[in-house]
Amino acid sequence: MKHPIPLEIETTIAFPASVTRLDIALCVFEDRTQPFSGEFSDLIRAAIADGEFKGEVETSLLIHVVDDNGALRRFLLLGCGAFRDLTPQVLRHAAGLAVREANAAKIKHLHFLVPQLDTEACGADAVVEGAVLGTYDGGFYQSDDEDDSRLEQLTLIVTIESDEVRAAITRGRIVAEAANWTRTLSDTPGRDLPPGEFAQRAAEMAQEFGLTTESLNVDQIRELGMGGLLGVGKGSDEPPALIVIRYEPEGSSEGDELWALVGKGITFDTGGISLKHGLDMYEMKTDMAGGAAVLGAMRAIAQLKPKQRVVGIVPSAENMPSGRAIKPGDIVNTLGGYTIEVVDTDAEGRLVLVDGIAYAKRLGASRIVDLATLTGSIIVALGDHRTGLFGNDDEWANQVIAAAERAGEPVWRMPVNDDYKKRIESDIADFKNYGGRPDATGAALLLSKFAKDTPWVHLDIAGTSWYDEPRTYAPKGSSGTGVRTLVELVCHQSDDKT
Ligand code: BES
Ligand code: MN
Ligand code: ZN
Repeated sequence: MKHPIPLEIETTIAFPASVTRLDIALCVFEDRTQPFSGEFSDLIRAAIADGEFKGEVETSLLIHVVDDNGALRRFLLLGCGAFRDLTPQVLRHAAGLAVREANAAKIKHLHFLVPQLDTEACGADAVVEGAVLGTYDGGFYQSDDEDDSRLEQLTLIVTIESDEVRAAITRGRIVAEAANWTRTLSDTPGRDLPPGEFAQRAAEMAQEFGLTTESLNVDQIRELGMGGLLGVGKGSDEPPALIVIRYEPEGSSEGDELWALVGKGITFDTGGISLKHGLDMYEMKTDMAGGAAVLGAMRAIAQLKPKQRVVGIVPSAENMPSGRAIKPGDIVNTLGGYTIEVVDTDAEGRLVLVDGIAYAKRLGASRIVDLATLTGSIIVALGDHRTGLFGNDDEWANQVIAAAERAGEPVWRMPVNDDYKKRIESDIADFKNYGGRPDATGAALLLSKFAKDTPWVHLDIAGTSWYDEPRTYAPKGSSGTGVRTLVELVCHQSDDKT
């Protein structure tokens, strides 16, 4: 089994000169000549002047040069678009691509000339975040490769080595490692991550980073009256679980405001009795990506130590057909008090989430964000570049939108209101779980009935949690989306408080 090699990151202020072998990544801008120093600047300029490399975003070119002494230099040119448009996100892409190209070229040690953003620290943060994200390899079930040389060391060339720069490097690493941890969970097959194991991994992580867990087992779930979660889990041999994990900042007390992050944790979604058809069903091993993102965010929050109290809640079950499974037409009683008619057992995410949201309110949460691979219909609407955002409170929604933008995980706001109420009106229960398309909106409306007047945002990540093709800082597979948004949301606002 392959093991990830952690990337060693250090800084230097001196442009490395005469060493026998040197590999340097350089950001190239379309509208401005990079102030290259060093002996090969003319050569790089020539490549740009010839038009072989234009500096467009998300492009790269590796140039090999042998000097008079026979020493090899490799320059990895990274397209960063126009300099005036430079954002942290452009640098994350460039750094992620740099790492993936370095791995492909079997470069073990890469120097990276960090361009100035607003501050040196800001640039370093983005480069480290992108680079560490770029190290993720989903091949952890593959046998160890004999010649498995990968990037092991990244040296950032900066102009000052300040405390701010060091803190930025630490922050970038914490956040990206959390996202990679989430990707690993999400890419793990259903067999190896049933709800009990998911809860176990959460508990181990909590122990490692000083969080507390208070997860509930199937008997406690039944006793509390979480009929949604219980109903979805009924068809499986693996019992459901409610994963609950808390971050309490130092000096906080019970009276302080509590935020809840709720994540869908379906460890495999066959559709249940309303069985899905075969083709891409294997992707449904990632139907716990929202829950994994919540846990990943908690992992980073525990290390970044903001002032905000946070609870992560992950209702987790395996959606299976069997003689014990919930049937279309069945009605479940929920923790929130409403009954729901289950017209389609494949619309299971909303059934477990309403219990998660009700539990968040019961714990006293004053603000809620939920993340879920909820509907195929959000993929039709937005594809895999933007997460669908729904909310019942403009201020809270705008706060999440801003955090997502800063984190480089853009969202698009969608409507949720009673215009769509026909989709969830049942003839015999308070609500039904499916009423035709547009279903992303119908599903969100059902969730909103349980959030009631608590400021709540729902992120439908069905499209953005999985990439069919590799990206600059991600291979094909689970993207870990949501982790960086949640961390930014919790940590940034809490910085403002101080
Ligand atoms: N987990 C799926 C949504 C999904 C689909 C996520 C594709 C990622 C990729 C969800 O539980 C589901 O099955 N939704 C159905 C509901 C419908 C059949 C009532 C859907 O959206 O098709
Ligand atoms: Mn489903
Ligand atoms: Zn599902």
